[in-house]
Amino acid sequence: MLPFVRRKSYIELLVIINMTESFLKYKYEKAGQGHLFKYWDTLSEDERQSFASQLSTIQDPAAFLSDVQEAIKYSSSLAESKIYKPLPTSICCSSTIDESKKTLSIWHHEGLKLISQSKVGIILMAGGQGTRLGSSAPKGMYNVGLPSGKSLFQLQCERILKLRQLASEEFSVPSHNVHLPLYIMTSKPTRAATEMFFTKHHNFGLEPNDVIFFNQGILPAVSMDGKQFLLGSKNSIVESPDGNGGLYKALHDNKILDDFHKRSIEHIHAYCVDNILVKVADPVFIGYSAINKYDIATKVVRKQDPSEKVGLIVLDANTNAPCVIEYSEISKELSEMKDPQDPNLLMFRAANIVNHYYNVKFLSEMIPKWISSRKYLPYHIAKKKIKYFDYVTGVTKNPETPNGVKMEQFIFDVFPSVKLSRFGCLEVQRSDEFSPLKNAPGSGSSCPETCRLEFLKRSTNWLLKWGAQVDHKDTLVEVDPSTSYDGEGLQFVKGKLYHDGDIL
Ligand code: UD1
Repeated sequence: MLPFVRRKSYIELLVIINMTESFLKYKYEKAGQGHLFKYWDTLSEDERQSFASQLSTIQDPAAFLSDVQEAIKYSSSLAESKIYKPLPTSICCSSTIDESKKTLSIWHHEGLKLISQSKVGIILMAGGQGTRLGSSAPKGMYNVGLPSGKSLFQLQCERILKLRQLASEEFSVPSHNVHLPLYIMTSKPTRAATEMFFTKHHNFGLEPNDVIFFNQGILPAVSMDGKQFLLGSKNSIVESPDGNGGLYKALHDNKILDDFHKRSIEHIHAYCVDNILVKVADPVFIGYSAINKYDIATKVVRKQDPSEKVGLIVLDANTNAPCVIEYSEISKELSEMKDPQDPNLLMFRAANIVNHYYNVKFLSEMIPKWISSRKYLPYHIAKKKIKYFDYVTGVTKNPETPNGVKMEQFIFDVFPSVKLSRFGCLEVQRSDEFSPLKNAPGSGSSCPETCRLEFLKRSTNWLLKWGAQVDHKDTLVEVDPSTSYDGEGLQFVKGKLYHDGDIL
């Protein structure tokens, strides 16, 4: 110990704790949050300490509540206050549906080469609580009922293993030298269960060093009018993950950017955990983005109908910048608008499927700006049913209608900071790439049954294209990711007969 550093006495420590507590109370009371301390005098010393430590994570409660008020205003006026146009096709849009085979193969080759050189990293966003699905476990653990019974996490990890194998074969690099690290963003509610699931399944074959967990931040939930923090118990406030836009701060705070640099990673594919068809680290998308030198790129599918719950990639006509209008914030009028060139099509139809590409150099330069500026990462509000402790009656309540607001940042709110010429938008075939798990079993759309069906239909179509036969028109066969990443290498099925439920 340094000679002039003296250990503090017990009494001195108590004085410090009391000072911190009084300052906390003062800060919160000044912000109109005196109700949080109603039960303070009845708490044990341990309870007070844990409550005080939770409260002290919010540096300026008054500023936070003023952000909430702004977010409430922002969310309701967002779509109306701007003029939007579809993205200009000639500048930043391409389509895997229309591109020539030659171009697709150039993109694929480049992407696979970058993977073989270990220059690609993957970010899996798995911090959401999946409330619509109605399962308390993290969504990635969900088994949608494939014949193999595999979870979403397992399918995604096995695709990574397969890609490493393909890259190593194509470029003659030993597969143990091909690293394609998976960075998993979890949140307080999803971290422990996710990590345990991966440990239990030995990371589904991925090397432990190439699976990196990190947590996103949390934000307090507030009452519907945005004026009061909600208590979860006598000695805690209700908190929830800060939205997938919390990614940028999380990359910074957890030193993940440093890890990218240490491993010489130059390109990132970030995606949502809930899409059963996701082409993890898709070489076509990586190659397309790298060759075009995009800072950010994103994949879209055609929006099915005006009510589909998808964000739309559009152009902000005032600033000539790419941006996303989220489904929760779009007006009915805008979502139903028809394309004047073809009234059978929606005017705004480029649906966001949360498959984003980032150039690491760009990300490193921009993250400090994004996380320090409200302009880039505004808060959005989500009205929710929030279980809370009613400080007036002293009873915990489980409301049946929304009673509060959760604050979230959205990952795509940084898009406007990219020059249009450095932003890529790649249209892909829905049946090949997008079938999300959002809703509870039996709900009929974006649910376990539709995910299962779309996954098996894609596999079965691959077989039929290679000349296989099936015993019935409704037969569905499962192709394992370790057999084929994207329908390649299935020549051995030619002329063979397959039955419903077969697994290859
Ligand atoms: C999201 C998109 C929407 C898109 C749709 C397609 C955003 C903000 N919205 O909406 O534009 O059309 O998917 O399926 O991207 N997540 C976290 N932490 C959080 C919240 C979410 O990691 O705090 C993750 C989830 O685990 C999931 C992804 O972000 O992997 C999307 O979250 P979810 O809330 O399901 O998004 P949607 O509302 O469906």
